[in-house]
Amino acid sequence: MTVRLLDQAGVGPAMRVLDVGCENGDVSILAARLVGEEGEVVGIDREARMLKAARERVRDLGLFDAIVGRRVLMYQTEPVEVVRRLAKSLRPGA
Ligand SMILES: C[S@@+](CC[C@H](N)C(=O)[O-])C[C@H]1O[C@@H](n2cnc3c(N)ncnc32)[C@H](O)[C@@H]1O
Repeated sequence: MTVRLLDQAGVGPAMRVLDVGCENGDVSILAARLVGEEGEVVGIDREARMLKAARERVRDLGLFDAIVGRRVLMYQTEPVEVVRRLAKSLRPGA
């Protein structure tokens, strides 16, 4: 129902969408699928724990094609673990 509503409201490829009160990211994630790789969805919420949950969900979806981090790994106490965890954010085959 929400996808249909977003679609009928004109949310589509390459759009930038602001999801106000995004909670754990349910609607943000649906909107992200509609706007596609050329688009962007920004979710805001006054509850920090909700934003944390939303970030974790998005991370688990594997939405990135590449990750860069110049001059970052040498500051990590567990660089291999950091790379391992970051790799989970990548799309399959990225
Ligand atoms: C009932 S939830 C709805 C979540 C989401 N929009 C959905 O439909 O699944 C309301 C959310 O809005 C957030 N919220 C309420 N007032 C807000 C404000 N002034 N600024 C940012 N977030 C707000 C709350 O923290 C809560 O996560």
